[in-house]
Amino acid sequence: MSTVPTDILGTIRAHGAIPRHIAIIMDGNGRWAQARDLPRPAGHQAGMAAVREVVEGGLAAGVEVLTLFAFSQENWRRPQAEIDALMHLLGDYIARETAELTSNSVQVHFLGDLDRLSPSARTAVQFLEEATAEGGALNLNLCVSYGARAEIVRAAQRLAAEVAGGKRTIESLDEKALARELYTAPWPDPDLLIRTSGEYRLSNFLLWQLAYAEFYVTPVLWPDFSRHHLYEAIRDYQQRDRRFGRVTV
Ligand code: IPE
Ligand code: IPE
Ligand code: MG
Repeated sequence: MSTVPTDILGTIRAHGAIPRHIAIIMDGNGRWAQARDLPRPAGHQAGMAAVREVVEGGLAAGVEVLTLFAFSQENWRRPQAEIDALMHLLGDYIARETAELTSNSVQVHFLGDLDRLSPSARTAVQFLEEATAEGGALNLNLCVSYGARAEIVRAAQRLAAEVAGGKRTIESLDEKALARELYTAPWPDPDLLIRTSGEYRLSNFLLWQLAYAEFYVTPVLWPDFSRHHLYEAIRDYQQRDRRFGRVTV
């Protein structure tokens, strides 16, 4: 018997404060596969269903931005066969989901060092971004070949080039100026960070943007994560006291 009320979406809606921006570290695919004596890529394949779940769940709840960590800069260090399988799945995801994403008015963006992708993967990524460019219901950011430190270094280099080119002064460099050079410039910072598979670390994800996010770690492995788990995380978030350094009176 479930211990969670079935109308959890109704409950979270009634309590207001739906996080505008949710970031998720989608972890545990390999362990999910291992537990079933399957090869690791089978776990990545199963994880695609969970992506669909959180997109649909996010849309239904009224989340504005969903930022998913799909492949890190450090993941390039994995065995080539696993990298190939992941890149293949990225193409599969785009081929299978484009129609659904456009009809749900989802706007997709890829964040990361996309120059490292194969030409065919890059073409597919551009295709999905262009096909969904008009979407206004939910922004779906897929972080691929993404590393937060590299993102910050890139932002610093872009600002330094502007200073060197006489386009801005050193005094004009502030937090806003740096944030504007990050991949996430168009969106507010995440309110809630979810990590699946029970790991308590950031693994170089959104280091700048998560400064005041609420963290939620669940033991659920990514392929088992459903919209119901997303709503449980939102329910937990709604019970937090976000102080931003101030005191609550
Ligand atoms: C997350 O699952 C997906 C990627 C990092 C690409 P993992 O592949 O890290 O799964 P575990 O952590 O080994 O279980
Ligand atoms: C983080 O997961 C990256 C993604 C979810 C894409 P990892 O499985 O790569 O992280 P570590 O190695 O456990 O820190
Ligand atoms: Mg992992």
